Amino acid sequence: MQQQIHVDKYERYWLNAVIVVLGIFFASLIVGAVVYGAHPTVEGGTLNILKLDESEFASPGVRHMGGNQYEVRMVAQTWSFVPAEIRLPAGADVTFLVTSRDVTHGLMIEDTLINLQIVPGHTSEARAVFEEPGEYVFQCHEYCGRNHHAMHGVIIVEEETTATDGE
Ligand code: CUA
Repeated sequence: MQQQIHVDKYERYWLNAVIVVLGIFFASLIVGAVVYGAHPTVEGGTLNILKLDESEFASPGVRHMGGNQYEVRMVAQTWSFVPAEIRLPAGADVTFLVTSRDVTHGLMIEDTLINLQIVPGHTSEARAVFEEPGEYVFQCHEYCGRNHHAMHGVIIVEEETTATDGE
């Protein structure tokens, strides 16, 4: 008979405990997905990333929906956002619709509550109102590879240029 590696009694307890805990986690993941329909925090539906250029994301950018309503479609990809610069008038009430061309990215826009996970095959949706003119930096906050740190952009909110003079 071969000599067996000695495993201490308590070490074996802990090994088994870890296996049981991982089993519970995995089971709850499956139960959550199958029984409760848990899914990534995306609300805008699904799409085929191989057909992005035939979808509503073929020409991402700002669309004026009337009044102060705007829609911004963005594509996140390694390692940039398209578009990376967005111009909006002050007071714009913006719905962001964002998807990924490749891997999972994130979108966080400063001075807003927008903090999205951008999952390929899904559209993430969020809304924000930009009252104050200025620059709002946005960035990817899900590690997505070598140039993750360089994946950012800016929203430039401009004072509404109306016919009125002075302040
Ligand atoms: Cu994209 Cu990090």
